[in-house]
Amino acid sequence: MRLDKHLHQCLGISRSQASQLLKAGRISVNSLIIKSGAQHVTEQDSVLLDDKPLDTPGEKLYYFMLHKPQGYVCANGDASHPGITRLFDLPCASELHAAGRLDADTTGLVLVTNDGQWSHRVTSPRKQCDKTYRVWLAEPISPETEEIFAKGILLRSETQVTRPAQLETITPQEVLLTIHEGKYHQVKRMFAAVGNHVERLHRERIGELVLDADLPEGSYRELTPEEISLF
Ligand code: URA
Repeated sequence: MRLDKHLHQCLGISRSQASQLLKAGRISVNSLIIKSGAQHVTEQDSVLLDDKPLDTPGEKLYYFMLHKPQGYVCANGDASHPGITRLFDLPCASELHAAGRLDADTTGLVLVTNDGQWSHRVTSPRKQCDKTYRVWLAEPISPETEEIFAKGILLRSETQVTRPAQLETITPQEVLLTIHEGKYHQVKRMFAAVGNHVERLHRERIGELVLDADLPEGSYRELTPEEISLF
């Protein structure tokens, strides 16, 4: 395999980042500094970055916060909507999955990883991770909605009422809703149940993790070790 391909597979970096490492003289193969990505390497070769062995391919775990734009689905893409992994310009993109789902027309925070155990902890109903959504409504919010949501509401085709949810009114047609579970289309169905309609939906927070205010739509960043350990 070419050395630059090997580097981007092992380190999860792009080819141009791999070529920067090579040009900087930070990569050695069998104790010789190599600057050309075209060099051929096999499993028998000892490839070091700054004198330390690389992770073997497939071992590295990735954790990202993504600012999801409208028009992408969190599952595999289909004919009408691409999947969110298309937004990741990384060699590991095909290994990634979303920890929990947003509708195609919902924007905001999605956690993306290749660590199935971690995403299970993010989504597990037993963990009851709070999620906060900013909701823009078709009609002004009625005064009783806060209390109805705090008590729990029976959604169509469900047998149990929703868990108590907290509503904060920003303006009559813009609210923050925090829910503690993740039923199918839950936020839209809760507002439909009180005779309103969600015009736009944006997730701001999952558990303690808040979407970076300066992360543009369609962009992502790696989580810090502290953020990963929140789940
Ligand atoms: N609730 C919804 O209705 N849609 C989402 O995307 C997320 C929560």
